[in-house]
Parts: sequence; C-alpha cells; structure tokens
Amino acid sequence: MSDAVEQAEEEPARLVVLISGRGSNCRSILRAIEHGRLRARIAAVVSDRPQAAGLGQAAGAGLDTVVCDRRRYPDRDGFEQALLAAIDGFAPDWLVLAGFMRVLGAVFVDRYAGRLVNIHPSLLPAYRGLDTHRRVIEAGEREHGASVHFVIPRLDAGPVISQARIAVGPDDSPDQLAERLLSQEHRLYPATLALLLNHRVELADGQIHIDNHRLHAPLLLGRDLDDDGHLLDDGLRH
Ligand code: GRF
Repeated sequence: MSDAVEQAEEEPARLVVLISGRGSNCRSILRAIEHGRLRARIAAVVSDRPQAAGLGQAAGAGLDTVVCDRRRYPDRDGFEQALLAAIDGFAPDWLVLAGFMRVLGAVFVDRYAGRLVNIHPSLLPAYRGLDTHRRVIEAGEREHGASVHFVIPRLDAGPVISQARIAVGPDDSPDQLAERLLSQEHRLYPATLALLLNHRVELADGQIHIDNHRLHAPLLLGRDLDDDGHLLDDGLRH
C-alpha cells in the first residue's frame, strides 16, 4: 500500500491538550485541524485550573473539556493519578502541553513517553522556567524564540524537536516580545505536531530521530520546517 493510501485510511490522531490559562496555542492547533493542515482531532482539553480562560473557549468550539483541580488533591501523586485517569479515558495518541503550568512526575511521563510534548517560550536549553521574556531582555540577548520539546520529568529539559526564532529589538518590552513570539508559537506548534503525526520523528533512547537519522540540532521553522510540517531540504543536514 502506498504511504498516501495508508495515511488516508488511518484515523486522525487523537490529541488531549493540557492547559492552565488562556489557551491560545490550543486554539492555533484547532485552527490548523479545521484548515486541514493537521490531520488530528482534539479529543479533550484538560485544565488543572477551573478558571482557565481557554476552557470556556474550547467548550464554545464544541470540544470536550475536563477540569482536574490541583487544589482538590493533597499531594502531587494523587493529583497526577486523577489527571492520568481523566486523560486515559480519552485514549489519546498524543498529549500536548500548551501553557500547562505544572512539572509532571515520572509515573505520568512514563505512561506517555515519546507521545508527550510541550511548547516553551525560549530557545532551550537557555532560559528554562518562568518569565523568559523579561530575563532575555535583561541579559541583553539579540535573539529570542520558542521550542517544542518532548517532556521528561525535569522542567523544560526534554529533547528539543523544533524552534522558532525572533530578533529582540532595542526597545522591546517583555510584553511586546511575548506578543511577537506568541504569533510564532502559533505557527510552530501545529507545524511540529503535523511532522510528529506523520511518524517521521520519534524519540528513541532519549534522542530524537527523523527517518531513522539522529537529529543533532532542533529544526528551525522556516528553514528546516514549513508551516504544514513538511521538512525543507530534508531537514536532516544538521
Ligand atoms: C505560551 O507562551 C507557551 O509557550 C507557554 O505558556 C504560554 C501559554 O499561552 N508554555 P497560551 O495559554 O497557549 O495562550
């Protein structure tokens, strides 16, 4: 069977998207699906915070939403067990963290190893953690960016699949930088998911492989990867 026939016959991948806040990356993924750029469906949007603005918008778009309120559980293990149970019920192929503000433990991560990704607003491994835009400006950096990476049980530390870069202007405020970067995130995440769902990228022994070749540096949006998740110039030359 040809690849095209196989792909057409395969069910769209099921995504569960985890959010804690406004959910704009979740919306960009939904848009990519609706526009036919990403062959997937969002099985559910799950939040650890009942007040997350993205929940209402997801429900308004007809998506299933679930709240797993961290404050209702005495410890992280209890919370993660409940979160896993809620997520497992949707039988996702991929877990997509999009502004989910918690570090997940080893039991959780192991369950979805190799199928669990996050977007972080920095050029990882630089600037892990919070408040990246302000820290980048204060350090006098001339470039900033966003990274999509596989998740491991350490904060923002998993292998990086792809990045988008922007220049830092001399007068940029953290908010201006964040806004400019966010529009790149909205391109980067759907493109990277499209690449992953095509089965061309996988995590093996903690390393990223594309078509069975080890990836030595993250794919750069616009240079190695286009908005539809196609590799440019094979994306393997790095
Ligand atoms: C994004 O900047 C993302 O990189 C970071 O949290 C923010 C979430 O924004 N992890 P949104 O909730 O997707 O609008």
